[in-house]
Amino acid sequence: MIKRYSYSPIIDTGAVVKNIPLSEGSPTPFILTGDGAFVYHMSDKCRIYGLGEATRGINKRGWIYDGWCTDEPLHTEDKRALYGAHNFILFDGEDRFAAFFDIPGKITFDLGYTESDTAVITPESFNLELYIVTGDSLKDIVSQFRALIGKSYMPPKWAFGYGQSRWGYVKEEDIRSCADRYTDAGIPLDMIYLDIDYMDRFMDFSVSSERFPDLEAFAAEMKSRGIRLIPIIDAAVKKLDGYSVYDEGHEQGYFCKDADGKDFVVGVWPGMSVLPDFLDPEASRWFGMQYKALTDIGIEGFWNDMNEPALFYSEKALNNAIEELKNKSDISLDALNFFGLRDTMNRLQNSPDDYKSFYHNAPEGRFRHYDVHNLYGYKMTKSAFDALTELRPDEPSLLFSRASYIGAHRYGGVWTGDNHSWWSHILQSLQQMPGLNMCGFLYSGSDIGGFGGNCTRDLLIRWMSFAVFTPLMRNHAAFGTRSQEAFAFGDTEVFRHIIELRYRLIPYLYKSFVKAVESDGMFFRPLAFDYEDDGIAATVEDQLMVGDSLMIAPIYRQNAVARHVYLPEDMRLIRMSKGDISTEELNKGWHYVSVPMGDVVFFAKSPIPFAPPAMNTSELQWENLETL
Ligand code: GLC
Repeated sequence: MIKRYSYSPIIDTGAVVKNIPLSEGSPTPFILTGDGAFVYHMSDKCRIYGLGEATRGINKRGWIYDGWCTDEPLHTEDKRALYGAHNFILFDGEDRFAAFFDIPGKITFDLGYTESDTAVITPESFNLELYIVTGDSLKDIVSQFRALIGKSYMPPKWAFGYGQSRWGYVKEEDIRSCADRYTDAGIPLDMIYLDIDYMDRFMDFSVSSERFPDLEAFAAEMKSRGIRLIPIIDAAVKKLDGYSVYDEGHEQGYFCKDADGKDFVVGVWPGMSVLPDFLDPEASRWFGMQYKALTDIGIEGFWNDMNEPALFYSEKALNNAIEELKNKSDISLDALNFFGLRDTMNRLQNSPDDYKSFYHNAPEGRFRHYDVHNLYGYKMTKSAFDALTELRPDEPSLLFSRASYIGAHRYGGVWTGDNHSWWSHILQSLQQMPGLNMCGFLYSGSDIGGFGGNCTRDLLIRWMSFAVFTPLMRNHAAFGTRSQEAFAFGDTEVFRHIIELRYRLIPYLYKSFVKAVESDGMFFRPLAFDYEDDGIAATVEDQLMVGDSLMIAPIYRQNAVARHVYLPEDMRLIRMSKGDISTEELNKGWHYVSVPMGDVVFFAKSPIPFAPPAMNTSELQWENLETL
């Protein structure tokens, strides 16, 4: 059952697609306090699931989180928010219920942080609709919620292949040589991603004619090898007279405005830039139609980035900071002054003051960005999705985004942004997946090998062994970091076997994914969701159910060659070792499972179909498969 409570919302976020009548009274079991907080007293056994891609465990109890889309390049445990605002939480204790706080502005979830037995949820303003969902089981609650927010995005089949990315492939030759090295090593590959360097001066929808003299011919050449090119599109548009996207948007008034009605100018990769107003349907449609420049030359998918929106600085705040520094130039540089000066610059990035100083022109009226901040990335994804559906009506396009809000799950997937080449980030990625699935984001994954920092061979092997199961399987790394492609560490055999296993499992993964979309279910589930009466299953934080038949328990510790695995029922252990598959029956309970480097081990409740190895999804056999 779903109850809806309305507290003077100022804008229809579009997160919800089903009409639910308004309920009267208090939103039980919360108590709404006089100072505007929703309070719930938790029993000792109460667990909390949800919050999408938020950091920390599968059970979110014990920390404080913000629903606030944040460009956060360091995903450490102290962070309260990453790129998505996914305000859905599910309490499983004396009471079992979920709450969705549909609020375009900021909201804080203190989940037993200040007082360990109390959840205090505080919206910064009451532009809010609250949905309380109750049901027969954890799965039932999630699927009722998912029916409320609408069917998840369905990517093309080839998007289940493996993709290679790197911020640092700057020219056609870099991409071709990447493809060649995969082909030479016999490692399957379906996609190579183009980061901002394919553009001319980081201008959206432009292509550098120097570095990519004929992108259309190059995309066709790659496609003939079974590899699709997937370019990035950033939210901000370079402010440059003579650049048609800027000129047109400026003339039509499609960019966000400052208090004086002038285009609000910010600094991001292209330097001084302006922000398309995705809340204005006309501007949104106009921006979406710009993708035509790339679909016309054979591009079939995109990743949307920097759409929290990330602001390195605003023109105005940067000028103020420079003035401030100039005025300070005669002071002695003692330590405090040094930190003060440094903070003046650091404070410029993603500053709340900047978010408070520009405006959107939505159908409901004019809104200060800060009050509707969480909708920006979501509406960018919708803009692209709507346009791509029109531009490429016959086939789905690949689309995923960095920033998101519930609702965006209908239009694209998400990747979890700028993680690091740290062992802890394998586990973090695993723990993010079920939360994302609850909120409808089924097509998701993390940068394999880690985005920031330097990856090692063993880290990549273990990370990939987990990512074999994530719908979005993409290796991506930051500019200036060590190479981490599957061919980068000498011996390629081990990577060939792991990626080959992914392809062998695609029919199972794809079918499970489609089922999750169609049934409003979850592709990844915490064990607690399938084994509600099993007290141990509910405490397992490093294993997941994948589809109806599989359970995974990856290795995520440096130098570990075995791990404890909990089996909530009798299962078959499936082991891929040097390309060979073997199975072993195991009984319900704890096992200490050996996983030598390069082996991939997972667990099955029922027979699993395996396709023969394939070099890409177009070669993949989908029918008459061997089951093991
Ligand atoms: C952002 C993205 C990252 C990308 C980089 C350059 O940091 O999160 O994936 O490589 O920008 O475009």
